[in-house]
Amino acid sequence: MKPVLFSSGIIGTGSYVPEKVITNQDLEKIVNTSDEWITSRTGIRERRIVNDEQATSDLSTIAAKRALEDAGLNAEEIDLIIVATITPDMSFPSTACIVQNNIGAVRGAAFDLEAACSGFLYALNVANQFVATGFYKNILVIGAECLSRITNWKDRRTCILFGDGAGAAVVSRVEEGYGFLSHYMGADGNGGDSLNLKAGGSRLPASMATIEQELHYIHMDGSEVFKFAVRIMASAAEEAIKRAGITKEQIDSLIPHQANIRIIKGAAKRLNLGMDKIFVNLDHYGNMSAASIPVALDEAVRSGKIRKGDNVCMVGFGGGLTWASNVLKWAVDTE
Ligand code: UT7
Repeated sequence: MKPVLFSSGIIGTGSYVPEKVITNQDLEKIVNTSDEWITSRTGIRERRIVNDEQATSDLSTIAAKRALEDAGLNAEEIDLIIVATITPDMSFPSTACIVQNNIGAVRGAAFDLEAACSGFLYALNVANQFVATGFYKNILVIGAECLSRITNWKDRRTCILFGDGAGAAVVSRVEEGYGFLSHYMGADGNGGDSLNLKAGGSRLPASMATIEQELHYIHMDGSEVFKFAVRIMASAAEEAIKRAGITKEQIDSLIPHQANIRIIKGAAKRLNLGMDKIFVNLDHYGNMSAASIPVALDEAVRSGKIRKGDNVCMVGFGGGLTWASNVLKWAVDTE
């Protein structure tokens, strides 16, 4: 028997990106790159970067408040907060606990979840389990990053890719037949070396030597990740669609992880989906890891691209290596 007592879905979304814009032309001044190279290889034109005072919990708090307002809920009605991030304010306490205090979600439990760029979709799946079984009613799921803090601004292979931001969604009970139709998650720890941050944990605590060796920055084997990404984006989306019991043709909107336009186009081709069904905003924000999908989802909803009854598929991949996808029938009016 399926342990599903209640239909569960997203009833509100919100997002926030910092005001400071770094364009490709700005990057031309600090590393040996060009707007032409970045645009043609990635599709990225600009990204947002936090100021000296901002941390991941600050971005999360604004996105959370916007999602609560959109859902028509007070913070006291939240039972659980999950923050997906690889750039928490600090090792502990969790960023989720800081957000819980900031928004006054006094009844809420709170924890962080780490699945790199797949983190928001992992967290949505966890939230869905709690709501579908009746354990909790309202869960705030946040994907937020300050990647600029772990970016090596001297490394042209990575610094052109990343940006900062936060997106949030409220997961609650919805009308029967609406909400999450499927989830799919996977991991391959064997590929962990292709995308990681080596120091600052229990393996290599921060020291003068780790700083001198620049081990506190994102390390990435771009072409390995690229090959994995194109393959997994299509197959993970297909798996979620199959589990939802619908066909590719019935998907109204695909919200992919926003890493590289060539990865998104490659996946679209494999899925035989027109680009008109795929939401893309990476030209403005770059890759915001766990924040990419929730920011794109919020922008798609607010621009009227997603409407009640639409079949929406979200799919992402990231460090770990990890991947995740889901399909939901959008449950709320967006006009
Ligand atoms: O969220 C998950 C995280 N990561 C990803 O999704 C990243 C996946 N990978 C990618 O998106 C692509 O592999 C990159 C955009 C990172 C790189 O694109 P590429 O087409 O795979 O380029 P490449 O790494 O094969 O490099 C080609 C050339 C190299 O020069 P040589 O060795 O051929 O002379 C690089 O040194 O381009 C050079 N290059 C650059 N040139 C100008 C690398 N970065 C830059 C740059 N500007 N910023």
